[in-house]
Amino acid sequence: MQIAIDGPASAGKSTIAKRVAKELGFIYCDTGAMYRTVTYMAIKDQLGFGDEAAIMQHLANMTIRFEPGDPEQRVLMNDEDVTLAIREPDVTNNVSQVSALPKVRTELVKRQRDIAASSNIVMDGRDIGTTVLPNAEVKIYMVASVAERAKRRYKENIQKGIETPLATLEQEIAERDRKDSHRAVSPLRQASDAIRIDTTSMTIDEVVERILSLIGQVKTK
Ligand code: CDP
Ligand code: CDP
Repeated sequence: MQIAIDGPASAGKSTIAKRVAKELGFIYCDTGAMYRTVTYMAIKDQLGFGDEAAIMQHLANMTIRFEPGDPEQRVLMNDEDVTLAIREPDVTNNVSQVSALPKVRTELVKRQRDIAASSNIVMDGRDIGTTVLPNAEVKIYMVASVAERAKRRYKENIQKGIETPLATLEQEIAERDRKDSHRAVSPLRQASDAIRIDTTSMTIDEVVERILSLIGQVKTK
């Protein structure tokens, strides 16, 4: 069974996807972490974010793996644990440029489908329902207002000891939404058969319950 969860930054995708996967005993694949890992590699290897040929050459020799971890699943680039490094602002602010490169997308979509072929899966990202897993049994398109999403990022940052003004976070989120929705290849958009959930005033538990109930309806069909 395949569950696809798409939507803009900080709509709650990964938090909810992890919980749903745990409840069902499915694996969870965070496709954003894969685009972030490629962006981190470009920074580390001093490649231009638009230099598709160089990025593809380095990507050919690079593995991206997910490993169970406590409390979080770990992300490994070759043997380097990049779980924390890929959440740094220099990655976040440049990932949309790297994820717009068509060959990078083709390669990562292939790797994502390989992961999905091995198990029941919950996968989250921007193009899962439209491109990566078009036959997923359940497709969710998760949204929330920009103001609410910025507030969520603000709280996460405070926990990490970073204080970024709310207005700056709102601008960054709106800018990433704009880039992700307007790129030529697989832009962020709702699949025609996806169910839209607005999480602006929903708790995490409420969203998880809603999705589990939708999955239950599909299973009993
Ligand atoms: O967690 P957050 O919402 O900040 O983003 P993410 O899911 O980690 O994704 C980071 C970036 O990767 C997005 O802003 C997109 O540019 C890109 N991405 C994509 O293009 N396609 C996907 N399936 C997943 C992420
Ligand atoms: O993966 P994505 O960027 O869509 O969002 P996330 O990283 O899962 O969620 C961003 C933040 O919003 C996290 O700190 C969640 O705990 C929080 N959240 C929330 O407060 N209420 C929800 N209904 C969903 C997420």
